[in-house]
Amino acid sequence: MGLESSLLIRDLVGLTASWRSLYSHSASAETSVVGTHVLSTLVAGGLALAHDRGTLRAGGWNPAIQEHHLAELHLVHRTVVIALAICMLSGVALFASDVKTYVVSVPFWIKMALIAMLFVNALVMTSTERDLRVDSGTGATAAWGRIRASSIVSAFLWLAIVFVSVVLSLSK
Ligand code: HEM
Repeated sequence: MGLESSLLIRDLVGLTASWRSLYSHSASAETSVVGTHVLSTLVAGGLALAHDRGTLRAGGWNPAIQEHHLAELHLVHRTVVIALAICMLSGVALFASDVKTYVVSVPFWIKMALIAMLFVNALVMTSTERDLRVDSGTGATAAWGRIRASSIVSAFLWLAIVFVSVVLSLSK
């Protein structure tokens, strides 16, 4: 039995039928959802990449500037989380516009796995960042190493997610 014929998927296809019909007949609905998805990606991913770059350069900075960077990292989370939430909601709307196609799409599931990894990495990064804000002493060198590794993983995941999304979009 294929995934698309399972009971859950058939229920999901039924539940989203009116949205699928609206989406496929309305250019403005499609433009708004794809536009929201891409713009929120730009805001969340752009801010994340810029801060990842800062973290990778922070090794050469003096302690006061490093402290300022950690405070900035903490402050930017709120905006990234809000933009990411908008990105997720519009992503769910895109998925719901054609459940049958996406549920059997390999790029779609690769993208979901990459997003899950992005979340796990974000949790590791925020906990390391918390450690660095409370301990600038002996443990700090190892923690800077950890946060740099998380920044590299984060930048890689953002780029990979956007690339796989383009593959997904073109493979429909
Ligand atoms: C980090 C989070 C995400 C990022 C950076 C992201 C980014 C993108 C980008 C750049 C596109 C290409 C848009 C286009 O060329 O038309 C796209 C398409 C798409 N996204 Fe996402 N997305 C994210 C999360 C999600 C989630 C959580 C879902 C579903 C639950 C989702 C579902 C989709 C679908 C179905 C498309 C294909 C639309 C089409 O076929 O044209 N996305 N995404």
